Amino acid sequence: MTGVVFLEVLILMALLYNLQLLLSIHKKTKLAVAKALQPSAPRLSWWDRMNRLKPLEQEFDLDLGHDYDGIRELDNRLPPWWLYGFYCTILFAGIYLWRYHVSHSAPLSGEEYRISVAEAEVRKTEYLKKAANNIDENTVKLLTAPGDLAAGKAVFESTCFACHGKSGEGGVGPNLTDEYWLHGGTIQDVFKTIKYGWPDKGMKSWKDDYSPSQIAQIASYVKSLGGTHPANPKAPQGVIAK
Ligand code: HEC
Repeated sequence: MTGVVFLEVLILMALLYNLQLLLSIHKKTKLAVAKALQPSAPRLSWWDRMNRLKPLEQEFDLDLGHDYDGIRELDNRLPPWWLYGFYCTILFAGIYLWRYHVSHSAPLSGEEYRISVAEAEVRKTEYLKKAANNIDENTVKLLTAPGDLAAGKAVFESTCFACHGKSGEGGVGPNLTDEYWLHGGTIQDVFKTIKYGWPDKGMKSWKDDYSPSQIAQIASYVKSLGGTHPANPKAPQGVIAK
């Protein structure tokens, strides 16, 4: 009895195994058939994918019916590269609008212009200041602007008058209004005299007290005193010079 039951179980197992085998074969063939039936997707080049071009066979569906001398209008989709480029410009416009017109975190071109002009102005005044102080006895020019002469006069009347007289008529120092000069009467000579002085003769060097541009103003003022004929002039010293 046990032997019979064992045999039956064995046969049953063999049958089940067989069934499973058949099922798996059936599944495999079904898959293979499905795969074979599926239309294979045409291989697209990256250029076609970038442009999302429709194959030529589908052109008829895209035709809008507009024919211009044999050139037909097709309703193609926008190529992705173009579309994303367009989205980028929209994004750019948004950021630009925000930055320049809403948050004002960057200057507009007009503002930018004014900023650079202001910067240039600062640099220019700095440069002119430096250039003005670059003057020496070789490059000094006679100044005639009322502002320069007034500045020179102020220094003269507070510092030089003690020895040269209030009007340059002379005192301890020589008369500066006549045409006689001990050390030359050109603007360069006068500049040099004031800058370095003649220390052993009682005229000190003023280069540590005044800047080169100030000395140019003082020298120009001294030159402007020429021929003014003040009262109590000191007798001429030196030789007639320019
Ligand atoms: C302490 C007196 C004293 C003061 C202050 C003084 N000088 Fe003189 N200065 C003299 C004397 C002295 C001489 C003549 C030097 C010589 O004999 O070589 C002279 C000469 C000069 C000369 C040359 C004149 C020439 O004939 O060649 C000039 C220019 C001059 N002084 C300008 C000035 C100016 C500008 C100041 C003011 C910043 C000044 N001096 C201040 C005493 C002074």
